[in-house]
Amino acid sequence: MSKEKKDVRILAFESSCDETSTAVIKNGREIESLVVATQIKSHQRFGGVVPEVASRHHIEVITQITKEALEQANTSWDDIDAIAVTYGPGLVGALLIGVSAAKAASMATGIPLIGVDHIMGHIMAAQLKDEIEYPAMALQVSGGHTEIVLLKDPTHFEIIGDTRDDAAGEAYDKIGRVLGVNYPAGKTIDEWAHKGKDTFNFPRAMMEDDDYDFSFSGLKSAFINTCHHADQIHQELNKYDLAASFQAAVIDVLAHKTLRAIKEYKPKTFILGGGVAANHGLRDRLNEEIEKLPADIKPKVILPDLKLCGDNAAMIGAAAYNLYNEGKFSDEHLNADPSLELPYADRMLN
Ligand code: KG4
Ligand code: ZN
Repeated sequence: MSKEKKDVRILAFESSCDETSTAVIKNGREIESLVVATQIKSHQRFGGVVPEVASRHHIEVITQITKEALEQANTSWDDIDAIAVTYGPGLVGALLIGVSAAKAASMATGIPLIGVDHIMGHIMAAQLKDEIEYPAMALQVSGGHTEIVLLKDPTHFEIIGDTRDDAAGEAYDKIGRVLGVNYPAGKTIDEWAHKGKDTFNFPRAMMEDDDYDFSFSGLKSAFINTCHHADQIHQELNKYDLAASFQAAVIDVLAHKTLRAIKEYKPKTFILGGGVAANHGLRDRLNEEIEKLPADIKPKVILPDLKLCGDNAAMIGAAAYNLYNEGKFSDEHLNADPSLELPYADRMLN
């Protein structure tokens, strides 16, 4: 008689920025529960995330949403095989709330602890949608990161391209502010872009360079200068065309470099990850361009569900399952690391 493989249930915590989230994930693929408590309303009047405000909100909700995640999954501590938590990168005070909660739960119950890199989590949101075949490649685009990442296997990653200045999401939020859009601006700018035309011809930086790095600060400055100049001469610009022109410039650069990287590294799976992965223009463009590739180098494309593009604990549980399978547990010394870098994620683990 064949012995059935035991299910692995992971309770995961995420608190690196402005969402407090808990989830129970089965076998790294199935979401049994996911709770996301967003604080965006509290930060909007400041035009961005205020770290102290973020930490206070995390403390207020983390115990309650831990209970909710277990209840919604119809499970109890006895059924949990590991406790996972984001330990970096992010805001140190915010990370510390999740790390302390996870460590306390692990010590009180004896359930093993797994520290997870937030970016590894964003990329592993793909695992909740479809099976990732390795080697894989990810374009990771969020508020703090714009990276092209190679995945040798589920836990060994290498960054081959990075932003030299602003991250893509950060650029969206900054130009959004000039247009009077509430933080975070990406979703609204994406919607406006679909109503306008690319008429401003903003710069596409580093397109011809033979590396995989990005730069968005020139684009951001060109955008802001265009708006300020129009203000000075009392000229009204079409906000939809401005959004469409900005988005076209961002997508042109991201798609160009990503396609070149796919042609060079020939991954079996391509993953789009991070908050900006919710961008409809970017999703459509990458799908279209990858579809045109010759069959022998065309990777399988995984675009995570829209609700799993932003920060959430489900993706942390998915990434933690891969670390669990390799026995990469953390101990009571696990600490928040605000500038944790992906290729070195393993160093903090036992
Ligand atoms: O991954 P995330 O939730 O937080 C970080 O880890 O940074 O990403 C948040 C970023 C924000 O900058 C937000 O404006 C951007 O993702 N974003 C978008 C869209 N939805 C969210 N950017 C472009 N288009 C969208 N549809
Ligand atoms: Zn994130």
